[in-house]
Amino acid sequence: MTLDELGHQTAQQFARTYGRPPHWMAAAPGRVNVIGEHTDYNDGFVLPMAIERYTVIAAAPAADGKGRIQLHSTASNGAVSLDLSEPVKPGPKGAWSNYPVGVIAGFLDRGAKLGGFDAQVHSTVPLGGGLSSSAALEVATATLLEEITGQQLDPVDKALLCQKAEHDYAGMPCGIMDQFISVMGKRDHLLLVDCRSRRPELVPMSDPAMALLVVNTNVKHELTGGEYAKRRAQCERATKALGVASLRDADADMLERTRRRMDEVVYRRARHVVSENERTLLAAEGVRASNWPTVGQLMYASHASLRDDYEVSCPELDAVVEIALDIGREGGVAGCRMTGGGFGGCAVALVRTDAVAAVSERVAAEYERRTKIKPALFVSRPAAGATVLKG
Ligand code: GLA
Repeated sequence: MTLDELGHQTAQQFARTYGRPPHWMAAAPGRVNVIGEHTDYNDGFVLPMAIERYTVIAAAPAADGKGRIQLHSTASNGAVSLDLSEPVKPGPKGAWSNYPVGVIAGFLDRGAKLGGFDAQVHSTVPLGGGLSSSAALEVATATLLEEITGQQLDPVDKALLCQKAEHDYAGMPCGIMDQFISVMGKRDHLLLVDCRSRRPELVPMSDPAMALLVVNTNVKHELTGGEYAKRRAQCERATKALGVASLRDADADMLERTRRRMDEVVYRRARHVVSENERTLLAAEGVRASNWPTVGQLMYASHASLRDDYEVSCPELDAVVEIALDIGREGGVAGCRMTGGGFGGCAVALVRTDAVAAVSERVAAEYERRTKIKPALFVSRPAAGATVLKG
């Protein structure tokens, strides 16, 4: 479905819910990370791209003229109502509305003048599939609020406001990658983000010979929240042992010299981050040079490191990567890895465009044979970041 079609559907949903057309509409994309996993909260490098899957939010001023915000989502039954005369607080743990509510709180904290409005959320980003459905919802909400309030935020500031919403309202101590790419993605480009300087750099990727194939394992292990925080804590322990501000400041030699001062698990976590930063910079160079065999090898190495050292993969993600390796370069696959936080969700494969149909068929059939689970596969070009559809 194109973004225009999705916008049209969202407007129809809005009209069905509220009995009138929307006044404003904003959209923000999900993402796949090509490489640079679990590096963002270590001040490292990431190389994601926005995908042609979006969350759209449509809104109109409250019909009763009162200071009340109503939020509906097509994906969920419970509507949420916020009274703007009272302090904004997070809802129950796990509620989808915590993401937009956190963003609304961020705008209010910045002194934005906000009256009541009715809103409808509609999305083609699979929920909980590791494609940043949460960042897409936050960034779509922030883009809508910029339109409603007339208060335009600097892109970095906007991404940070959304990240804070996720920390404070959804209880997920995420890094900055997902919000950055959802705000700043550009068509036919990957985004190399230096998460220390927060400086994003566009890396062109428009070679028609290669495509990125997303394979959703359709498994979601409910471990992510707790395991994610645990990984962050282990990385902090490694920085203390190394005497550095963050793992960004460590290199392989330094790590080996300090190995005895860390427990084995902490050492392996640090080894993943240090090596992943190197791989990410090399992969960005590889993409710039259309050196696909190199980029592909770096993706496989990233997966092995996430599986063995960082331990955030799962048998289903490993199965996709093994199948990709079996198909090999002769069959059209240059590389493959898990993408996102891990423990389920999606893998991403770098595939020759003329082999996409055959590779997709083979991966789907073989994955289902091995796991008894039907995967979902799609190809996406690098898409643009958040946009106003109606303002
Ligand atoms: C999740 C987080 C990101 C990032 C990835 C792992 O998607 O939201 O900030 O840490 O995991 O790379």
